[in-house]
Amino acid sequence: MKRMLSGIKPTGQLTLGNYIGALRNFVKYQDDYEMIVFIANLHCITEYQDPEELRRNLTDAVALYIACGLDPKKATIFLQTDVHAHAELGYIMACNTYLGELNRMTQFKDKSQKGEKNMTAGLYTYPCLMAADILLYDANYVPVGEDQKQHVELTRDLAQRFNNKYGDTFVVPEPLIAQVGARIMSLSDPSKKMSKSEESNKGCIYLLDDLKAARKKIMSAVTDSIGIIQLDKENQPGLYNLIEIGSALTGRSMEDIVKEFEGQGYGKLKGFVADAVCDELAMIQERYNQIIESRQIEEVLSDGAARASAIADKTLENVKKKIGLEIKYQ
Ligand code: AMP
Ligand code: TRP
Repeated sequence: MKRMLSGIKPTGQLTLGNYIGALRNFVKYQDDYEMIVFIANLHCITEYQDPEELRRNLTDAVALYIACGLDPKKATIFLQTDVHAHAELGYIMACNTYLGELNRMTQFKDKSQKGEKNMTAGLYTYPCLMAADILLYDANYVPVGEDQKQHVELTRDLAQRFNNKYGDTFVVPEPLIAQVGARIMSLSDPSKKMSKSEESNKGCIYLLDDLKAARKKIMSAVTDSIGIIQLDKENQPGLYNLIEIGSALTGRSMEDIVKEFEGQGYGKLKGFVADAVCDELAMIQERYNQIIESRQIEEVLSDGAARASAIADKTLENVKKKIGLEIKYQ
């Protein structure tokens, strides 16, 4: 069975973008692949997080993974810091990454061009840690949203470089990007990605949003004054985004949805998308509440960490041996 690995960085509450672009796909794949998913808590602290809030977000993320349909018996679910090999291989990967490569990473470039002050060294070397996350597990595929593709591509370069220098060590992974929903846009500004770090809350739906609030966000989503329901991503990005959300959640094609609502007002289409979103959220939230009450999270994580460590520790030992970091005692 081929292995698949992915992670989510819960710097805030998980969003509909996370669900459509990433989580939902993990669930789809768990029957056909050996699935490893983790909570990327080390990645969270590249920027300051309030400790209480962070702790809550981590717990919620695990509960939401399961509530969205990940089965802890099938998938290995764990917290990044519970497996020490991540930080250690992350450092080793940083020693095999060139500054030029990190300077080219758009996530970092965007932030520094915006003139953000006090950017941390952790944020800069984040892609090295992400490469370690993936390479520790010999993952064949990495299902992610569009924004993470560049990081997986760097991981491939680093794996190949290491293999060339030290001999065959790492499996070279491939990014897996869904056809529909790989980049869900903000409802209040469809030129931006729907993101938990958005300043105003209006453009982002959180998986734990009150259903009424979620519906309101969809109904007041920014569209355009063209007034025709069609697929024109460039001139009607808000409308396109709504149709994409509707398609991703109902499994119907975007064209099919356009056909149904052609010639009608945007309000009708928004109502359809709001129904699809609220149905999905209601199901997720019901399961989320059961999981929080059942107190199974601790057990899932300790089980997951044991399974993950068994794989990761072996890879790290092998890497250290290849590099010459170990002293052999006779
Ligand atoms: P993050 O929240 O940045 O840790 O992202 C976790 C996963 O969700 C990654 O695979 C992202 O690519 C994906 N993701 C985040 N935001 C979106 C979005 N607006 N649309 C689609 N995928 C997303
Ligand atoms: N960087 C990813 C994000 O922000 C999260 C992540 C960390 C990840 N390590 C990973 C995703 C390894 C896939 C594989 O979304």
